[in-house]
Order: sequence, then structure tokens, then C-alpha cells
Amino acid sequence: MYKMDQTKTPIFDALMEYYNRETIPFHVPGHKKGCGMDDKFKNFVGCNILSIDVTVFKLVDSLHHPTGPIKEAMKLAADAYGSDMAFISIHGTSGAIQAMILSVVGEGDKIIIPRNVHKSVTAGIILSGAIPVYMQPEIDKNIGIAHGVTPETVEETLRANPDAKAVLIINPTYYGVATDIKRIADIVHSYNIPLIVDEAHGPHLGFNDKLPISAMQAGADMCAQSTHKIIGSMTQSSFLQVRKERIDINRVQQVMNLLQTTSPSYPLMASLDVARMQIATKGRELLDRAIELAQYARAEINKIPGLYCFGEEILGKPGAYAFDPTKITVTARGLGLTGYELDQMLANEYHIQMELSDLYNILAVGSFGDTKEKMDSFINALGEISSKYYGTRPVKGEVLDVPGIPERALTPRQAFNGKKKSIPLSESIGKISAEFLLAYPPGIPIVCPGEVINSEVIEYVKALKEANLYVQGTEDPDVEYIKVVEV
Ligand SMILES: Cc1ncc(COP(=O)(O)O)c(C=O)c1O
Repeated sequence: MYKMDQTKTPIFDALMEYYNRETIPFHVPGHKKGCGMDDKFKNFVGCNILSIDVTVFKLVDSLHHPTGPIKEAMKLAADAYGSDMAFISIHGTSGAIQAMILSVVGEGDKIIIPRNVHKSVTAGIILSGAIPVYMQPEIDKNIGIAHGVTPETVEETLRANPDAKAVLIINPTYYGVATDIKRIADIVHSYNIPLIVDEAHGPHLGFNDKLPISAMQAGADMCAQSTHKIIGSMTQSSFLQVRKERIDINRVQQVMNLLQTTSPSYPLMASLDVARMQIATKGRELLDRAIELAQYARAEINKIPGLYCFGEEILGKPGAYAFDPTKITVTARGLGLTGYELDQMLANEYHIQMELSDLYNILAVGSFGDTKEKMDSFINALGEISSKYYGTRPVKGEVLDVPGIPERALTPRQAFNGKKKSIPLSESIGKISAEFLLAYPPGIPIVCPGEVINSEVIEYVKALKEANLYVQGTEDPDVEYIKVVEV
């Protein structure tokens, strides 16, 4: 099924050649294979990683102008994921997302995005000067999380904004829930514009048919993948996959060069190269094991009083079309504990660290780095906590409906660059917000920078506080004050 030999690892091999030649380094970095580095750090990390921490020269190639092993690694990654070109991002998926946005929209162009995007999307929109048109994702009130946007929402938004230049979606969500991305791709393409996907949580999709389909399989035009989050590469290393039908690949290269350092880390790039080889050649078996282990944990956790770990039963709800079972979301509402409290108990009492927690949930990211023993430690810790708290505390109420999207007065870029002042939230009706106000759960903005604060917003914040739910985003942690743009 691949056109290229996926067992190859050209970046890693070039570094091994450099290492084996015992090259004398008169190049940066100044630590010179660790010789000039203080023992405190060196003795812990060891010399191997330092001996391949090199800079741009012919043998190891250049990320900005790849012609050798980096170019070959990019082609191999494109072949593995079924794209036309794969770019390496050493600025994580955040950098890749900004590059996707800058590749498809400019000043004054409309881009359709979900309301609950990651801050890197907002950064891309500020940098580009584009106008965001928001879609509301679907909310699961019981679990208190946002799922994907539905094809119907995408279609309606496009019908109301036929001049939009691109659509961006998040797929799958942090919690592993995927929308009907194939249908969305078809709808977006019927307007002859690109679909770009924040696939931060899906670099493993497409390598095992028990997982939702990937953005590239669905026909999307670009996707940014946190290879480092889910599969075997080091933190900060991500891929940006591109299809050429609706995207100018040369422009993407230019934008990546604009955003990325001229001193990319070779250990990071080599780890990305090897992670691609690993997922392409052994992904199916490795993921089979990860899925089996996560499903075992899900079943065991669901036997524990007061805890709920959702699975495929949520499919069919709006925005929940497919599910990645490696994500283990544990809802602690039934114990009367917040996700934050449960997270802290696991971290401090059991030394088990979750990926994230919110008011209702903790999220454990499963991967082929897990073992049955570690999974059992997690399950046992949850069991102990349940026996201590079950039935002792009142259960928290459901998420409140998020109000409608306020009117927009400025673009995010104009709001970002505008003169700001802090005023009491209660006196802010009619003012243009310079900050986000987010309802937690489900982590959806009530107001975004550039939008006009209205009475519904103020009432909603009051209701959230009264219900002991959270509102966040302002510099003022108590959300009594909000920064507005002076006009
Ligand atoms: C949905 C989503 N998109 C993008 C990102 C950014 O990814 P990275 O941390 O690789 O920059 C994250 C990070 O958590 C994310 O959750």
C-alpha cells in the first residue's frame, strides 16, 4: 500500500553517519557534542543525544531548503499518511496550525472555525488578519465536554458565508470523539474551498481500522498532527500534511520558513522520522495492543462506583460519529468530586499524572507506551478513591447551555493591537472585549476578542458562578474585571 520503503529513516541515518565518522565539530551548538556542557545536565541526559545535536550542513540537510535526508523524510511521511507533502514542524502542532491558516487566508478573508479552537488557531487568525466565522460545537451535558461540529452546522455556516476562503475543524477532539469528517470534506469541497484540520490528537488514525478515519483518508486538504502527543516522537515534533489540489505547496513551505527557527533540533527531527517509520511499519499491531489495554481499563473503571468512562455508546449523539478508544475520560461527577480534585489526588497520593482535568473529568491518554501493570495501578488508585468518597458528597449539576454568539465589532487582530483598559465586568455591556471569557465546562468561549459584550453574557457569567461552575480567560482570576478595547 505504500509507494516508498517505510523502513527507511533518512534523518536518523544521516546523524548516525555523522556520529560514526567521529566528525570534529567547528559548528554550533557550542557545547560541541556535550564537551562544553556542564556535567549537571550532561551526566543525567548522557552524551548520545548531545552528539547528534547538530546544525545545518550538507550531510544532515536543511529544514528550510531540504534537498537531502530531510526532503526524503518528508516524502516518506507524505507516503505514510497519503498526502502530497508532509512538512516537519519543530514548533509543535501550534506552529503547523498557524502555517495552515497563513497558507489559506490573508487580511480580511473569512475562515470558518469552531468556537472552541486551540489558542494556536487564534494566533494564526491574529497573524493573518483573517475574520473568524464561528460554529458552535455540540455539547454533551452529561459528561460536560464539547464534541465535534456536525456536517449540518458546517453546511449552514457555509450557506450563510459563501465568500469564506476555508473551513477549519478539530478532529478528533482531545477526548477522542470524531465527527463525520468525510461528509464535512464533501460539503466544504462543494464550495471549492479547502478543509483544514486540527488533527493534534490523531496522528495515529489511519493505521488501525478500529480507529476513526484520518483527515487525509477523509479527503481534507491539510492537517496538523501532534506526532509527539500520541505516537513515538519527542515533544514539539509534529507533521503538517498537505494535499495539492486546493493548496499551493510552495506557499506552505514559505510560510513554514517564515514561522520556524533556522536552528531546528536534529534530535527532534530524527525522532519524528523514526516515529513515522514505527507507525507505518508496526502501527497496526502496536495500536491493537493500546486499544485492547484502554478497553480493558474502560471496562474496569465502569465497574467502580461513582465513576463513568464513556465509550462507543455515545456514538450517534450530534458531533459524535466515531470514537478513538485509546482516550480514557473518567467522569467523577458521581463521586461528587471535581476532575481537578481527582487529578490532584492521583498526582499527589499515587504519583499518577493525568493529561488534563476539567470540572467533571480527568483524561488519561492511552498509547502503545502503556503496560497492563501501569494501567492496573491507575484502576486500583481509582478504586481506592471511590471507596473513600462514594456517597459522601452531593453530585454536581449539569452544564448550562452556552448563550448565542455575540456581535463582532473588530477582527481578533484589531482587538489584539488595540489600546486596552480593564473595567468591571458588570459595567462592560456594549464594550468590545479584548479577552476571552470561557465557560468551563465545556471550555467554550462566551465572548472572543473583538466581540461586543451584551447583557446575556453578564447574566450567563453570573449563572455559572452561582452554579459553582467555572468561568475563565480574563487576566483577573475572579472574572470581576475584563479588558476591553478603547475606541
Ligand atoms: C486541539 C489542539 N490543537 C492544537 C494543539 C497544539 O499542539 P502542540 O502542543 O503540539 O503545539 C493542542 C495542544 O494541546 C490541542 O489540544
